[in-house]
Amino acid sequence: MNNIAFIDLQAQRKRLGDKIDQAIQGVLERGDFIQGQAVRAFEKDLADFCGAAHVVSCANGTDALTLVGMAESLGPKDVVFVPAFTFVATAEAFSLLGVTSFFVDVLPDTFNMDPASLKQAIVEAQGQGLTPRMIVAVDLFGQPADYPALSQIAQENDLVLVADAAQSMGGAIEGQKVGTLADYTTTSFFPAKPLGCYGDGGAVLTDNEEKAVLLRSLSQHGKGSEKYDNVRIGLNSRLDSIQAAILREKLSIFADELEKRQDVAARYSTALGNRVGIPFIKDGYYSAWAQYTLTCEDRDGLQRYLKEKGIPTAVYYPMALNIQGGYKQYPVVSSGVAVSQNASASVLSLPMHPYLEKDVQDFIISAISDFYGNRST
Ligand SMILES: Cc1ncc(COP(=O)(O)O)c(C=O)c1O
Repeated sequence: MNNIAFIDLQAQRKRLGDKIDQAIQGVLERGDFIQGQAVRAFEKDLADFCGAAHVVSCANGTDALTLVGMAESLGPKDVVFVPAFTFVATAEAFSLLGVTSFFVDVLPDTFNMDPASLKQAIVEAQGQGLTPRMIVAVDLFGQPADYPALSQIAQENDLVLVADAAQSMGGAIEGQKVGTLADYTTTSFFPAKPLGCYGDGGAVLTDNEEKAVLLRSLSQHGKGSEKYDNVRIGLNSRLDSIQAAILREKLSIFADELEKRQDVAARYSTALGNRVGIPFIKDGYYSAWAQYTLTCEDRDGLQRYLKEKGIPTAVYYPMALNIQGGYKQYPVVSSGVAVSQNASASVLSLPMHPYLEKDVQDFIISAISDFYGNRST
């Protein structure tokens, strides 16, 4: 079988037909490339979709995190608690503000932040003379973190709770959508994300109106009420009008795409459960299935075998953040991050998108079964 896509954006393009081309054409004709009408319209559409009061779009998901750090005036000596098993941007955004990332471990079943590890890290940070300010939970692979537990810890310790929802837009807990589960939710519209554009894009969602106004100012050079009145130091971080126009079209089919992702994930899980570790979704949780990530023995062997058969896979992420060159100076919870380390050695993500055809999926499943079936264990 040839040309199996890891994420098939062309299939989505076919489905949306000319609508995206027309949306782009509309921006070209209006010429409102920066902060044009599509940007405000998309922000409103996304707010309605999630049930969030405010959406402030920006240039990418990394900036979305940086903007949140700026909106909370984080700086040196301040600490953000970050899972060790995540994409680098979760910590990087805060490092740029001089903030200390304090690494905590993740849970072995969901790979999301471990509330017990977090609690311990908060006490230890205080003991080290640091100032705990923020919890940055990550909704890894599309499943929301345990926000009910994390919110309680945030409240007890007077910390701001941030959801890094770069991978989980469209997810929910008991019907409450990502975008409303934390004080701030940040997301990314990188093309490979469940809701992706055709370049870079991101947003911060919050119910706090005052913070939304501040975030908007921060994303536009710290502007005040007049364009050239700069009342604070900010960033140049805007979502392009063309990207917003594309995202509006994609959002119109997003709910259906999310359902299709559930079907694809369920098919994988039913077929692979006795061969490898399949993703665990908590009761009442709805994953956006940014990735279908299994855990397995001889990960490198399996990856090589699948590659030979033309099946693309990816390792998210091969190294925990606390041992990476740019981040190893930061503190780690004293009980360690063994779960993060083990995960980085055993995870493998399979092709996952709403348009994955059954026969292609069957081919992938039988290749995995063959690999383990042919081995003497
Ligand atoms: C968990 C997580 N956080 C942050 C980001 C950063 O998003 P962006 O690439 O849009 O800056 C990503 C995207 O790759 C991500 O997966």
